Amino acid sequence: MNATVLGIESSCDDTAAAVLRGRCILSNVVSSQTNLHAAFGGVVPELAARAHVERLDLCVEEALRRARLTLMEIDAIAVTAGPGLIGGVMAGVMCAKGLAAATGLPLIGVNHLAGHALTPRLTDDVPYPYLMLLVSGGHCQFLRVDGPNGFARLGGTIDDAPGEAFDKVARLLGLDQPGGPAVERTARDGDAGAFAFPRPLLDRAGCDLSFSGLKTAVLRARDLSLVDGALPRSARADICAAFQEAVAATLAEKSRRALALCPEATAFAVAGGVAANAAIRTALEAVGPVPFLAPPLALCTDNGAMIAWAGSELLAMGQRDGMDLAPRPRWPLDPDAAPMLGSGRKGAKA
Ligand code: KG4
Ligand code: ZN
Repeated sequence: MNATVLGIESSCDDTAAAVLRGRCILSNVVSSQTNLHAAFGGVVPELAARAHVERLDLCVEEALRRARLTLMEIDAIAVTAGPGLIGGVMAGVMCAKGLAAATGLPLIGVNHLAGHALTPRLTDDVPYPYLMLLVSGGHCQFLRVDGPNGFARLGGTIDDAPGEAFDKVARLLGLDQPGGPAVERTARDGDAGAFAFPRPLLDRAGCDLSFSGLKTAVLRARDLSLVDGALPRSARADICAAFQEAVAATLAEKSRRALALCPEATAFAVAGGVAANAAIRTALEAVGPVPFLAPPLALCTDNGAMIAWAGSELLAMGQRDGMDLAPRPRWPLDPDAAPMLGSGRKGAKA
């Protein structure tokens, strides 16, 4: 797996391109669309797709420039072919096909979730199998990762993703978007014991999760805390601290159960924007008994390096896609797992 691979990602609201040589990240360019969607309170798929079309070429050019390589020095082109917002996925796949057709380089379609799930192999060379918890604005699932194409889904959310819950809670409390960092900041001055929020689905066996009830509990706590129609600063901080603690405790307990379901796991790894939360990281670190791994934040959130890495593992296995590579809005990693309910703010959950 020492190939030089260009990775292209455009399945949500980040346009990204990266160049990897083996495990060495030569460049990792991410053009975020946060400002473009800020006024709408969520990602607008049509705007996202158009922005991807405008930015993909520039991101690829910049990734090559920073890697000090030309296209002719690349061994393969890996691209996210799903799941995600279909306009963005199409834009990325078309860009990659154009480059592959012009250069004759191998084209490799990568599952976006596999990109996240294989990141601990890029950063820490973790041996298979390991347990992965994907927690972001659009994803929430436990996966046993057996190989670049082998995933068993052990459980996941039956409604909201945790990042989505952080964003909704922030909105309820009048905090900025994205909600996760704002809730975490506000929680620093709060008392997590001030409210007893539910620990959803702990009474149910297995490691499925639910976050929508927690959000309703936050709404009730907010309304009960209003003084003359306004939410006191201390109550806002207490609600944030108690909510964050409930999410952390629930994720930790369900992680314990997921690990019990795969005793052969060599490590427990986390990926996704929510993994940036210090309280959640601390709770997950304590799960044990296997080593806990959280990739650096830039590789936890959407990026091209994870797609290049997954592409490099698939290339080593002999995968090549043709010009008939199809963009897929839904693409479950584990085709045998029962489909989950709900769809995230940032697109379809696979
Ligand atoms: O992985 P990501 O960048 O994008 C996708 O959803 O694919 O994750 C973004 C999500 C947002 O919902 C954001 O509120 C959440 O991750 N997030 C956090 C924190 N930083 C980002 N949630 C909790 N605490 C944080 N510090
Ligand atoms: Zn993602």
